[in-house]
Amino acid sequence: MSWLMLAILLSSISLFSTQKFENDGVIEKNHDCESYVNCGDCLGHLECLWCIKPFESSKSDNEYTRSHCAWREFLEPNFCPPGLLVDPKSSKAIITQRPLQSAQTDNVQITPQKIKLTLRVGEEHKFHFQYAQAKNYPIDLYYVMDYSASMEKHRIKLAKLGNKLAETMKKITSNFRIGFGSFVDKVNSPFVSTVPELLKSPCTLNRGRKCVAPYSFKNHMPLSTDHSKFSYQVSQAQVSGNLDSPEGGLDALVQAIVCKEEIGWRQQARHLLVFSTDAEFHIAGDGKLVGAIIPNDAKCRMNGNKYEGYLTYDYPSISHLNDVAGKNNINLIFAIVKSHNLNMRSYELLSENIENSKVGVLDESSENVIDLVLDNYNKIVDSVLIDTNSTQHVQIELTSNCTTPIKNGCSDIHVGEVVNFTASIKPLSCAGYNGKPITISFKPAGIDESLTIELDLICGCDCEVPGNSNYFPNSANCSGLGEMVCGVCKCSPGRYGSQCECDGQHSHSLNETDCVQNPGDSVCSGLGSCKCGKCECFSRPNSDQKISGKFCQCDNYSCNREHGLLCAGRGRCSCGRCLCNAGWSGSACECPDSNSTCIREGRNDEGVCSGRGTCVCGKCECTESELYTGKFCELCPTCTDR
Ligand SMILES: *[C@@H]1O[C@H](CO)[C@@H](O)[C@H](O)[C@H]1NC(C)=O
Ligand SMILES: *[C@@H]1O[C@H](CO)[C@@H](O)[C@H](O)[C@H]1NC(C)=O
Ligand SMILES: *[C@@H]1O[C@H](CO)[C@@H](O)[C@H](O)[C@H]1NC(C)=O
Ligand SMILES: *[C@@H]1O[C@H](CO)[C@@H](O)[C@H](O)[C@H]1NC(C)=O
Ligand SMILES: *[C@@H]1O[C@H](CO)[C@@H](O)[C@H](O)[C@H]1NC(C)=O
Ligand SMILES: *[C@@H]1O[C@H](CO)[C@@H](O)[C@H](O)[C@H]1NC(C)=O
Ligand SMILES: *[C@@H]1O[C@H](CO)[C@@H](O)[C@H](O)[C@H]1NC(C)=O
Repeated sequence: MSWLMLAILLSSISLFSTQKFENDGVIEKNHDCESYVNCGDCLGHLECLWCIKPFESSKSDNEYTRSHCAWREFLEPNFCPPGLLVDPKSSKAIITQRPLQSAQTDNVQITPQKIKLTLRVGEEHKFHFQYAQAKNYPIDLYYVMDYSASMEKHRIKLAKLGNKLAETMKKITSNFRIGFGSFVDKVNSPFVSTVPELLKSPCTLNRGRKCVAPYSFKNHMPLSTDHSKFSYQVSQAQVSGNLDSPEGGLDALVQAIVCKEEIGWRQQARHLLVFSTDAEFHIAGDGKLVGAIIPNDAKCRMNGNKYEGYLTYDYPSISHLNDVAGKNNINLIFAIVKSHNLNMRSYELLSENIENSKVGVLDESSENVIDLVLDNYNKIVDSVLIDTNSTQHVQIELTSNCTTPIKNGCSDIHVGEVVNFTASIKPLSCAGYNGKPITISFKPAGIDESLTIELDLICGCDCEVPGNSNYFPNSANCSGLGEMVCGVCKCSPGRYGSQCECDGQHSHSLNETDCVQNPGDSVCSGLGSCKCGKCECFSRPNSDQKISGKFCQCDNYSCNREHGLLCAGRGRCSCGRCLCNAGWSGSACECPDSNSTCIREGRNDEGVCSGRGTCVCGKCECTESELYTGKFCELCPTCTDR
């Protein structure tokens, strides 16, 4: 093919690396840049660029066709006169970059803070950011305790331990505040007895002391540096009682999280919320029993120091609680007292569903509450998880240089240690982009700081916009019956031809030679009609399917499938072949690039396929197949030493 002779790599054309065709390494003219007949479609493919003036390109050895859209890697120098090349450049600018610092009031734990990017669809951009946990970072600890009667002895104990807890936390940071609240349940039958006597005092404690009236959630002490007040408040608050065993803890948690002013959460602080109970919890739906049917909206509804909305709003769902905790940077610690009322598994499951939460058992005497808080605090701060809120149209991948990486983060890091993250960002489509930057945040969970990416996409071409110097409405070159856009005619409805010279009815409209790709092929590959030497491809009944190309020779639905999914759902189908997302290859994007599925878990030392095979498309092919078998070539049924 004379095509290959033209091959000149214009490596300087793009600021960032261009997408290569990883599938088979053989460069072929299968990308059909030339089949795109308008600028927007052409630039929708990173490998293509557009020239407003048509250029000649070879269709076969002795036939030439005029085209505007060219494959970047096969360009002759100066194939397009200066000023007529449409190849928008991506750009990157760091807008805010304060260095990491630990200071009493002004900590910076992630840097940079803001980056502006402009990218083309399909273009991958990599950047770095750093995270370090500041020393002496402020801590707010709010203790929410179940105050139903069975918790009485833990209450007394906690009051005694209060000072010790504060002393211990002060060793971690001099900037420590503590607060305290309690909960029982929604006050109505059947959760609470509504017999008037019992509504006033539902139970009697030892030495004839009466319980106080039941309530939902009460904030006894907003966050304060006066640590001695904590013990006092815990000892002063009196327990109450109710009927059923699950309690209204989730109501209390949501109020304690969202009532920022009432509780006194500081924006720049670690927020620890310790939740202590010996019973299970009511969940969304249970509220119906007392007539609280409106779904919980996670708004603060405190009147004075009490939660008021408990008979109107249902209990929150667990996923809602997770969402609210995440948005408010709350680290939850469940300090659970074992009892016959309670299955520990419920709290383990709850914790698994709430990011940045931990669960521990409070022993009979409550004495380990300090260790529990301290241990879990350390677990929380010794790791970092980066939350990103990308859309389905922007692909994000994260790696870091830490020694113990976990998905999207690191564990086993220490205060002051810097972790260098590398993020890759790749817009997959212009869908949903309305010209306003897409904001994506990279936020360490539990911390009120983030790196914000403002991403602009290059979608379409400037010369398609009325007013551009290459946009001519009703151009004479288009028979006065179309617009000249980016060098090509965009004909009015019912007009066809490169100069809108045809109406599709008259005989000169029916010359079909220009609608045939190779001699002998069907007109418009049988998938379109030839109008004035130009194929108009049929539309498919299914709007998800599109036939395209100058000869209707391409479509985006007849690529290979894996498990019924086009390109295994990991790539884009372009003209009959899958363009796979990063990390995948194969004709249906079915093969992971990584060898990890060919290594036995925990046996990295054995190597790929136990050292007895090669990893092909994520599966082991054993070298001596008559000898070794098994998923990892780890079995040798006939070996004598077995
Ligand atoms: C990770 O990168 C940061 C920043 O360059 C560096 O300070 C740190 O030592 C690196 N960590 C490891 C484990 O290499
Ligand atoms: C982070 O790591 C990348 C390479 O992985 C390196 O180029 C960059 O300089 C590092 N950043 C810092 C601050 O060390
Ligand atoms: C991501 O979060 C930021 C900050 O909360 C918000 O401004 C942005 O709109 C979110 N982006 C998406 C795509 O949801
Ligand atoms: C119209 O055609 C003439 C003659 O081919 C050419 O010189 C001129 O640049 C064309 N105009 C546009 C807007 O392309
Ligand atoms: C169709 O057009 C081609 C050139 O575009 C020409 O050579 C051929 O004679 C035409 N055929 C008819 C039937 O007009
Ligand atoms: C095929 O292309 C059409 C039109 O561009 C698009 O709406 C559809 O989502 C695409 N289908 C697939 C499977 O990519
Ligand atoms: C996977 O293993 C094969 C040999 O089995 C090796 O050739 C290839 O480079 C490895 N690929 C990666 C990404 O490690």
